[in-house]
Amino acid sequence: MELSVRDYARECAEQGLRGDYSRCRADFTVEQSYDYSAEEQEVWRLLCERQTGLTARLAHRSYLDGVSALGLTERIPDFGTVSDRLRLLSGWEIVAVPGLIPAGPFFDHLANRRFPVTNWLRERRELDYIVEPDMFHDFFGHVPILAQPAFADFMQLYGTKAAQAFELGGGDMMTRLYWYTAEYGLIQQPGAPVKAFGAGLMSSFTELQFAVDGEGAHHVPFEIETVMRTAYEIDKFQRAYFVLPSFEALRRALDRSDIAALVGRWKDAGPLDPSSL
Ligand SMILES: [Fe+2]
Repeated sequence: MELSVRDYARECAEQGLRGDYSRCRADFTVEQSYDYSAEEQEVWRLLCERQTGLTARLAHRSYLDGVSALGLTERIPDFGTVSDRLRLLSGWEIVAVPGLIPAGPFFDHLANRRFPVTNWLRERRELDYIVEPDMFHDFFGHVPILAQPAFADFMQLYGTKAAQAFELGGGDMMTRLYWYTAEYGLIQQPGAPVKAFGAGLMSSFTELQFAVDGEGAHHVPFEIETVMRTAYEIDKFQRAYFVLPSFEALRRALDRSDIAALVGRWKDAGPLDPSSL
């Protein structure tokens, strides 16, 4: 059964998560309330300045084009302005949320081409690492690549199919698919070097460098069934990164997958060890 906003807010407070869920609507969205301090604007600028030095070399062209089109790096973005631009590019918009939200509403937003973005930013002492996703992770990491048409379609499809898979007991399998694509995905198009597009990489100063060209980074060709069966790391570098041949291949693989059959086949099997692939 789906959690009410009030029950979810209580759970988050008990876990020490810092979002303010008291003004949430039923779909877990809030107003962005653009009242960021000079210090927050400075932290945003510092994060963007440092990370764009890396993404220029390591990120896929589609991600970089998204950053230019959406204009994310000078000041903390205004969600309404970004949504207006993104709608024209790929039909997506962004909505403000206080932090993590439950799976059901999250999938519903994706299925309707709305990406939830946290409305608060990490502090200066957290430039390198933060446990909870914050605005920098959600925005700088996830939003630019939503301007890429095939990836944009994949994310909507993911929202629809993930809801179905969770009902059938395949939640872990769908989470792995998200993890290894939207969060830690790499791509290598014919004749081009490996590049990154996943948000966990885009928002990490150290892992972005390791994943793309670090010694010992384990690159595995993308295959959707294998991805859905492979365990992942939460607070360490991944032991495997899946490499797409194209965004269209990702969209097509999910579109053609019989999720009910995949879940039925693998939901009770132990996950694959990423190092063994
Ligand atoms: Fe994320």
